[in-house]
Amino acid sequence: MLPDLLKIAELAAQSAAKHILNNDPSTVREKGPTDLVTEIDTKSEDIICEIFEKETPEFGILAEERPGINIDAEWVWVIDPLDGTTNFVHGYPSFGVSIACLNNGYPILGIVVELPVGNVYSATVGNGAFCNGNPIGVSKTNTIENGLFVTGFGYEHDEAWEANMNLFKQFTDQSQGVRRLGAASVDLCHVASGKVDGFWEFDLHPWDTAAGIVIVKEAGGTVSQMDGSPFSIFNRNIVASNKALHNKMTGQTRPVIEKLRLNGIDI
Ligand code: IPD
Ligand code: CA
Ligand code: CA
Repeated sequence: MLPDLLKIAELAAQSAAKHILNNDPSTVREKGPTDLVTEIDTKSEDIICEIFEKETPEFGILAEERPGINIDAEWVWVIDPLDGTTNFVHGYPSFGVSIACLNNGYPILGIVVELPVGNVYSATVGNGAFCNGNPIGVSKTNTIENGLFVTGFGYEHDEAWEANMNLFKQFTDQSQGVRRLGAASVDLCHVASGKVDGFWEFDLHPWDTAAGIVIVKEAGGTVSQMDGSPFSIFNRNIVASNKALHNKMTGQTRPVIEKLRLNGIDI
């Protein structure tokens, strides 16, 4: 069953990716002052959902740009039709299409098409992780000092955002660097393929993380909340790493999330 689902997911993701690359982000609507949604996001989602509605009509759909459909079903597709919209709008080359499949609430399949480069990252539970059909694995870096990291900043410039500015500084001080690219699903694939050693972010949504966490775990990495506790796609904060650095990373993120929680903020 998983190989068949992966084929369907890949058809959907590639069809959306083709549409995205064939378009100019000229029609930009504003969700919030910095949260851009283009007509291309919604069309990309339509393309994906049409394929799923035809191929797997009994599956639920949890997609970013529409209300959830049957999201308590045994099988649910989780879709970010264009992750990294701001980058896409500005022509900055880090965006993608992210699709996961949940079985009884657990992500068991993930595919991310990284654009504009066209890399296809995919994984199904128990079968390893791949990029363009070749097996991938996390890095072996075992000290923060030797590590390269990536993080992201959400649209809300709130207390968690402020806290992440400090974490950005903290990790930058200690490591070989921290990148901020702007597409969380792609960032997770960069952990999975060993390009970076770890990733963290606040305030994410299931469609940002569901596919990437399957790919990271199948590539040998670890995923948790910032306090080190198990991560569910409905948690808003995440740490993903090459496993070797996980406790070292959460040792630094834990006090930050605990302090935010004491102030009533849990994202
Ligand atoms: C955003 C990206 C970005 C992350 C934001 C997300 P979108 O998704 O993944 O990297 O920092 O929190 O909302 O809006 O471009 O699909
Ligand atoms: Ca997103
Ligand atoms: Ca999106």
